[in-house]
Amino acid sequence: MEIVKRESVVKEFTNESELGSADQELLAEARKVMETAYAPYSRFLVGCALRLANGVIVTGSNQENMAYPSGLCAERVAIFYAGANFPDVPVLEMAITARAKDYNVKGPIMSCGACLQSLSEYEVRFKQPIRTLLQGQDGPVWLAEEGTKTFLPFQFFVEELKR
Ligand code: THU
Repeated sequence: MEIVKRESVVKEFTNESELGSADQELLAEARKVMETAYAPYSRFLVGCALRLANGVIVTGSNQENMAYPSGLCAERVAIFYAGANFPDVPVLEMAITARAKDYNVKGPIMSCGACLQSLSEYEVRFKQPIRTLLQGQDGPVWLAEEGTKTFLPFQFFVEELKR
């Protein structure tokens, strides 16, 4: 028996001002689109901004539904829009922000497993990690330079399924 370990690394920034202007811009876009979230059930608003290799920024917010599982997270709204409208353009970077209507979101929130799996498909497709910035309402900003494998180190990937 052997122990299989995979390490995850994030960089933590106490304040957004420690980041470069392109990162600050992406976070600002995520915060802007976060306000379009349709979240009457959870009262939890999420914004996602993706920077594509052609410089376009694609955004998405969570869209809930009375039939709860029919709703969709901000990350998948954004990445599926990018896939549908810019099918050949690699996704380079992503910023995710969140706020709750009834309390303060202290520090960054992680994407859910389904979003991580969906996002990882685009990393595989374009052969590059999506550099990811995460921000709550208070607290630090996290930067995951290695993309989804930071948060989902043992993700589903089977080469043979591509045939
Ligand atoms: N949500 C996202 O949009 N992204 C995440 O990464 C986690 C959760 C949404 C789904 C739902 O509308 C609300 O947040 C509460 O779970």
